[in-house]
Amino acid sequence: MKNNNYDFVIFGAKGDLSRRKLFPALYKLENKKMLYKKTKIIGVGRINWTKNDFSKFVKKSLKKFLIEKINKNTWNNLKNRLTFCNLDICDTKNFYKLKKKIKKNKIIINYFAIPSNLYSKICKGLYKFNLNLKNSRIVLEKPIGNSFSTSKKINKKIGKYFEESQIFRIDHYLGKDTIINLLYLRFTNSIFYNNWNNKSIDHVQITIAEKIGIEGRNEYFNKTGQTKDMFQNHILQILTIITMKEPKKINSKNIRKEKIKILKKLHFIKEKEIHKKTAIGQYSYGKINNIKLSSYNSEILEKKNSNTETFVSIRVDIKNKTWKGVPFYIRTGKRLPKKCSKIVIVFKNTTPKIFDKFSDFINNKLVIYLEPNERIYLKFLNKIPSLNKKCKLKSSKMYFKYSKTFKNKNIPDSYEKLLLECILGDQSLFVHVDEVKYSWKWIDNIINIWKKVSKKSELYLSGTWGPSLSKKIIERDGRKWI
Ligand code: BG6
Repeated sequence: MKNNNYDFVIFGAKGDLSRRKLFPALYKLENKKMLYKKTKIIGVGRINWTKNDFSKFVKKSLKKFLIEKINKNTWNNLKNRLTFCNLDICDTKNFYKLKKKIKKNKIIINYFAIPSNLYSKICKGLYKFNLNLKNSRIVLEKPIGNSFSTSKKINKKIGKYFEESQIFRIDHYLGKDTIINLLYLRFTNSIFYNNWNNKSIDHVQITIAEKIGIEGRNEYFNKTGQTKDMFQNHILQILTIITMKEPKKINSKNIRKEKIKILKKLHFIKEKEIHKKTAIGQYSYGKINNIKLSSYNSEILEKKNSNTETFVSIRVDIKNKTWKGVPFYIRTGKRLPKKCSKIVIVFKNTTPKIFDKFSDFINNKLVIYLEPNERIYLKFLNKIPSLNKKCKLKSSKMYFKYSKTFKNKNIPDSYEKLLLECILGDQSLFVHVDEVKYSWKWIDNIINIWKKVSKKSELYLSGTWGPSLSKKIIERDGRKWI
């Protein structure tokens, strides 16, 4: 069966994810003529919509969430693919309706844009009408469950109906071009490849800062918190990509194998280390760009005085030969001064001591801005030109900017990339069941200790860089957030 002979089925077509991410991504693929001519996009939902109602809904979503202007031709082509299937996923006998809409011998890409506790219901329905055979793939959104035990149950139930090779667990950070680039940056440049270890690296900092708050997702977020929403998945994925060994081959089996090895080697934080190595915070009122913002607790309408964290900072250690002794300081939070995802690799200062007298020595730093304003720079020392016998040095930056170097190239959207990879059947950029397992285990341990010691979220003003305790985690070790 050819990879291009496929239909898309979107469960949860009326939901937020479909509107914000999936429809715009499908539109962009359509615009680039990357969708197969005969592919249908089948929205599934309980609502009694006609094809026309669904089209109107998709168009409205595109108008709101697509940054570029809608091209008439592209829209008409996309519209012709759209169809709707009125189906209550809890009623498995109704899945015959979906079966009727799918042509034989086609690959079916079933996108589950719904909460993970409903995944097994859909799987059952698909199974009942033989829609789970080899030609069927399922795409699952994160978070899968909200702990190791719940995720295990969900993965087990799904595993009854689908093989691992049919399951595409999405983490949209893995589709970001600058994150994919990390592998190439590390493994194709000998200057980095040969120094990517504890002999050369002093420590690593990862910051994933968001300007937005919880944007009305009160119920979900209050149950989840930043640690489960961002750290368990996106951050641990970034961490594995920064630290994994080179895979034997560039394929999903080998890449994911190396990532799993890292997750298995994460140091489990002990109760006695919890205050030293972790900090949580919650945004209070404040200002960003002169706009007054209310506090988290006043946004959560029902459960005031919630302790849910909107910021988390953790020192992570990896217990293997390559990374022993290299701390990874990681922070992520909402309502911080700006949107900014960056990685800073701070190199050790191992230069000959006789040169120390020339100036304030710096550690070389490789700073990778993942988004926005994607760029990479290397901080280094250079002599200031002069005839003076007493030489002075200045730290400077070797600079690479995406927008300058790749002027005519847009950085693709992560959902666009991931949908395409799923069409191609390549799981390299998707999360393996064991990755889910080990990341939840590691996070559960921290969350359980927080519960045990009644760890409180420290309030921070909206528009600042999080709680003061986050600074202490790194400053205690004689270092600073960059
Ligand atoms: C999602 C989280 O997975 O990622 C959100 O649920 C978060 O809370 C979002 O805002 C951040 O994604 P991005 O691509 O905007 O950095």
